[in-house]
Amino acid sequence: MTRTTGHCDTLAAGAAKPKGLGASCTGAAKAPVKKNVKVASATMTELQEVQITEEKPLLPGQTPEMAKEAELAARILLDRGQTHSVETPYGAVTFTVYGTPKPKRPAILTYHDVGLNYKSCFQPLFQSGDMQEIIQNFVRVHVDAPGMEEGAPVYPVGYQYPSLDQLADTIPCILQYLNFSTIIGVGVGAGAYILSRYALNHQDTVEGLVLINIDPNAKGWMDWAAHKLTGLTSSIPEMILGHLFSQEELSGNSELIQKYRNIITHAPNLENIELYWNSYNNRRDLNFERGGDITLKCPVMLVVGDQAPHEEAVVECNSKLDPTQTSFLKMADSGGQPQLTQPGKLTEAFKYFLQGMGYMASSCMTRLSRSRTASLTSAASIDGSRSRARTLSQSSESGTLPSGPPGHTMEVSC
Ligand code: BEZ
Repeated sequence: MTRTTGHCDTLAAGAAKPKGLGASCTGAAKAPVKKNVKVASATMTELQEVQITEEKPLLPGQTPEMAKEAELAARILLDRGQTHSVETPYGAVTFTVYGTPKPKRPAILTYHDVGLNYKSCFQPLFQSGDMQEIIQNFVRVHVDAPGMEEGAPVYPVGYQYPSLDQLADTIPCILQYLNFSTIIGVGVGAGAYILSRYALNHQDTVEGLVLINIDPNAKGWMDWAAHKLTGLTSSIPEMILGHLFSQEELSGNSELIQKYRNIITHAPNLENIELYWNSYNNRRDLNFERGGDITLKCPVMLVVGDQAPHEEAVVECNSKLDPTQTSFLKMADSGGQPQLTQPGKLTEAFKYFLQGMGYMASSCMTRLSRSRTASLTSAASIDGSRSRARTLSQSSESGTLPSGPPGHTMEVSC
């Protein structure tokens, strides 16, 4: 994995400023700026594209399906990502870029939740089989919240960790560094909040948002009282696990829960995780208002598991966003982290979301479309009245864009 570092302003000076990206990287420094800043030694144009020839002869005994699987495995193995670090007014931010920029296409930019980093949050989704066919058409930028990147040193006691709003203000630095002008954001929990805040401030640069487990509200005094009470009997890792997973999942103690409990409990940067956790709990209200000025203008796909800790918050969020721009995906049996437990279903919904935005014509989606036709059903919800079972996976072999506009509730049962 290659690593480069850069400074927001230095790099912005050398690169043409992308349309719509303001000079948000010049705010007053609130956090100690680390020394040893090098100017980036690599730009996106130097990234190596992973070339895999489509017309490879089959090996003896190999079926086309086996060849396809081998190709996907090779693609995943070869594309290890390039990790960059950019200095921002709120400290260094690390992000990892997979794939090459595609002309006239937004980058997919992800932001993870508390207790996780980009890999523990998104790897199962982005490395799932069907996702490969989608993401090969997009460059991906996976942001690690400061101090969450692998090998991050623990911040000194008293370090002023950025608020979620300030973390949102670091995103223009990343996009300037990469010279990217627009994104499709995919965020979970705190990451979903950060991307929403970024979208409110930079709406011209956000083409779409996938928001998993978003809670746009600041904690009220009742939430604070409950939080304080829980804090008396639970450790920080247990509180974070309670934010990520449902009580049912935690008491079931599946392999997945054991894995994530182990990751969080033994995290060498647990102090940093606690700082991100505090910023999440101190978030301001996003103040979404249906029909008001403060709203997301781009297509949004809200996602939540039907037993997830944040189900109510996401339902309420759905009621505040523009119904013509918002799709709501409530996933059955997926627990708190659908991107970990149901990557296939989420990939399929993501495909329709992208198609609805005019990307991913079905001619590019042959395998996905054919293999999963009719596996998703939805109940369209218009002003509260529901018409049952509208099939979303109408694959079109003619190459037209099959998806309807947003504004649906999809209840995916698995
Ligand atoms: C990606 O291909 O975007 C990816 C690969 C590994 C981990 C996370 C994302």
